[in-house]
Amino acid sequence: MTKNDDSPMVFSNEETEDTQNQNSVHPWIVYIVDDDEEVHSVTKLALSNFTFGGRPLKFLHAYSGEEAKKGFEENSDIALVLLDVVMESDHAGLDVVKHVREKLSNRMTRIVLRTGQPGQAPEKRVITEYDINDYKEKTELTSQKLFTLLSASLRSYRDMVALDESRKGLREIIDASANIFSIKSMRQLAEGALHQMLSMLHIHDDGSFYGTNVDSLAACKKGTNFSVLAGTGRFHELPETKQELVGIPLEVIEHISNAAQNDHKAFEKNHIHVFNKNHIVSYHKGRGDHENLLYLGGEMDYSELDKSLIELYARNVGIAFENIELHEQIEETQREIVYRLGEAVETRSMETGNHLKRVSEMSKMLALEIGLTEHEAERIKYASPLHDVGKIGIPDAILNKPGKHTPEEWEVMQSHAELGYKMLASSEKPILQAGAIIAQEHHEKWDGSGYPYGKKGTDIHVYGRITALADVVDALASRRCYKKAWALEDIYALVKEQRGKHFDPNMTDILINNFDKIENIMKQFSDVSSHSETDK
Ligand SMILES: [Fe+2]
Ligand SMILES: [Fe+2]
Repeated sequence: MTKNDDSPMVFSNEETEDTQNQNSVHPWIVYIVDDDEEVHSVTKLALSNFTFGGRPLKFLHAYSGEEAKKGFEENSDIALVLLDVVMESDHAGLDVVKHVREKLSNRMTRIVLRTGQPGQAPEKRVITEYDINDYKEKTELTSQKLFTLLSASLRSYRDMVALDESRKGLREIIDASANIFSIKSMRQLAEGALHQMLSMLHIHDDGSFYGTNVDSLAACKKGTNFSVLAGTGRFHELPETKQELVGIPLEVIEHISNAAQNDHKAFEKNHIHVFNKNHIVSYHKGRGDHENLLYLGGEMDYSELDKSLIELYARNVGIAFENIELHEQIEETQREIVYRLGEAVETRSMETGNHLKRVSEMSKMLALEIGLTEHEAERIKYASPLHDVGKIGIPDAILNKPGKHTPEEWEVMQSHAELGYKMLASSEKPILQAGAIIAQEHHEKWDGSGYPYGKKGTDIHVYGRITALADVVDALASRRCYKKAWALEDIYALVKEQRGKHFDPNMTDILINNFDKIENIMKQFSDVSSHSETDK
């Protein structure tokens, strides 16, 4: 009983050479734990040419229970341990079993107990009480029996690892898929999906981008062309440099059409997956003319399991892309309808041109500058075109009267605020709800002299205060049937003068400080030849 090294683990020279020769092949790790040196050498000798599934063995050695425990702590990928029961104590081997299964929660390693003194640890008791996979007497272990034992143990280890990986992979897919369906932006989904697929292929993010020579891209069809949404490797720059539609590299298109030719039903199934050594393409054709694809190119090494997991994931990503596009289209349509509704009313009031666009933009700018969130600023932007929607109920003769209104007519005019509110208030849609508030309060004034309720100060909803300022500024800057366009310095002066009277003083200061932005919006959305009516 001699130890041939002080370290708990000894790698014999022969095996090191063996494994060096088979460097590219991942060996099975077999742990020999026995206090009898001879057992180590006999076992090694008997298994010297052993391979399983094309993979050789690599031996680790320990000579006591304590060494074995350390060995297990340092190596989580031990396939099989041939474990002596009696070493420094009668139950040293059994303690190792407990340590491995309970403390280290290692359920994978196949444990075969070998004992020279079966009386010390009776087989029936041990196999019932301890989570071991086999129990042998040392005298039983002839070369042939060792061969059989190794084959059976490694087969079961291999299957357990595959099952475990499959379970982990599936969990990852489920988590990742749940995540993709909560993503609301195409770009974000594209980036996330590529990251996830590369990590499934065990290609890791090295900080800047994926550090191997695998290039990847995600793209969606816009019109007749594909637009790249995200890329890594040589496609990394594509979405940044070309915001416009970008053609997909020809090779990718070729892979897809080749796959379609090889599998005529592929297009009918709406999903095409191409897997080979140098590229993976997942193509999804959705309802209408929606199409999207994921492409990975470069040298890749993946198992059948990786392949089926990637296919499953890519299929979900394809559907998620389609859902986001649909969602975006619906939102876009809603915004467009809201805008066109506002515009219809403006047209009736002869207030053509880009008044609504400018009010929208100015309102958003003010909202952001006073510290509202991007989300809320967007809501105000899309709701502000509804400020005068109530004018739809004002008779033409009053609405478009060129001269001054009589007190009665003025009262009718003022009713547009409440009318607009009533039109929109029953909607549950956030943009329309915001529109209702804006319609009702855009003529209230900070000092309480406005209408319809004469609300004061911050009793007036912030949406109302924002739109009031934006609407007045733009109305002054525009030509109307009853007045000329004001010069910017006159508007500036009026706004200052009305600080704390008509307008929220805080918001007035913000507008004055950002007057350059107001000017920009006016320039960007100017009314080119939109006013043919004479100034009155
Ligand atoms: Fe109004
Ligand atoms: Fe207006």
